[in-house]
Amino acid sequence: MVKVAILGFGTVGSGVYEIIKTNTTGLKRKSGSDIEIKYILDIREFDDHPEKHLFTKNYDDILNDEEVKVVIEVMGGLHPAYEFSKAALSAGKHVVTSNKELVATYGTELLNIAKEKGVNYLFEASVAGGIPILRPINQCLAANDIEKVYGILNGTTNFILTKMFKEGADFADALSEAQALGYAERNPEADVEGHDARRKIAILASLASGIFVDYNDVPTEGITKITKNDVAFAAKMNSVIKLVGYAELTGGTVYARVAPMVIPCAHQMSDVSDVFNAVVIHGNFVDDLMFYGRGAGKLPTASAVVADVVDAVKHIERRIRLMWKMPEGNIMVDPTKVPTQYMVRTTNKALVESFAGASVIGELDGEFAFVTCEMTETELFAKLGENDSFIRLLPKA
Ligand code: HSE
Repeated sequence: MVKVAILGFGTVGSGVYEIIKTNTTGLKRKSGSDIEIKYILDIREFDDHPEKHLFTKNYDDILNDEEVKVVIEVMGGLHPAYEFSKAALSAGKHVVTSNKELVATYGTELLNIAKEKGVNYLFEASVAGGIPILRPINQCLAANDIEKVYGILNGTTNFILTKMFKEGADFADALSEAQALGYAERNPEADVEGHDARRKIAILASLASGIFVDYNDVPTEGITKITKNDVAFAAKMNSVIKLVGYAELTGGTVYARVAPMVIPCAHQMSDVSDVFNAVVIHGNFVDDLMFYGRGAGKLPTASAVVADVVDAVKHIERRIRLMWKMPEGNIMVDPTKVPTQYMVRTTNKALVESFAGASVIGELDGEFAFVTCEMTETELFAKLGENDSFIRLLPKA
């Protein structure tokens, strides 16, 4: 019997409870032990809950209980999740989390404490919800150097962009629907401005390269400026627009960014709709792989959390090797110097003449669009006027 505690009984926490209570037999078969929830920590009252005796508001009940071997942190936010996780690891308890903000910010320190204490800090659910992606990078693809990792890492923005493309929906209505379905972060800015995807690509790049990538060093643009005409011009190119977290990992350096990108319909990622996420990995021996599934939502996210609980229970006396180290010097490539192609939208039709080799997309409601050849951001900005806008094309394979 292994006793566990859930910190936070919100969307994900209640999903974790539901899975542990529902799949009891299967979880025992896979982990080798019964898994019993001994506490649920939440500041709210749950007097109508059938197991209301499990609830506590005092974290010390959990921390000081030696029977609790695994702490499941699904509270979200940095504080007090950081302090609680650190205290649990320092006390020799395994910690499992879905908290990407915490992993992206304090992951190095928490992994180091876990290593010192011989316990596990596992965070599969922090990236791409229910899609297994961190374990494949760390284990199944261990034979490869991962040269690229990129994908649709935010369900809310993908839901919004899908509605804009398929239904001509308005941005605000699509966002409200995503929030009502429980996909969006409490503060939707984290989704629509790309901060959530930025943390996820930083975690992916850190794990894939073995060197910590600070999300603050990942240039990030959101989707709030995308217009109906952008959608229509992309469609004319037989393409869609998706918010992409992108990282290239070569020769000990990392080029990373989060931005809306134009993706041709021939790319498998173009079909990834609604709240679904997809992550593409390019390994130097395996070539390209794409992982696809539900990137947000109660049960898919809880599914990844509970899989980590099973792994922690299986390795209750042992540490799974899961680490990254701090970089020695700057490993980040200057993003302004990386050439790529852009879809430019402008009211100034003559602008295209200053872009040698550009191909014209067309004209719509007084606006004009074209695709540039590969050029750096610095070169692009030197040519654009105040009212011109651009969206990057997904870099070619
Ligand atoms: N708000 C996030 C998303 C939740 O929409 O993808 C999952 O991390």
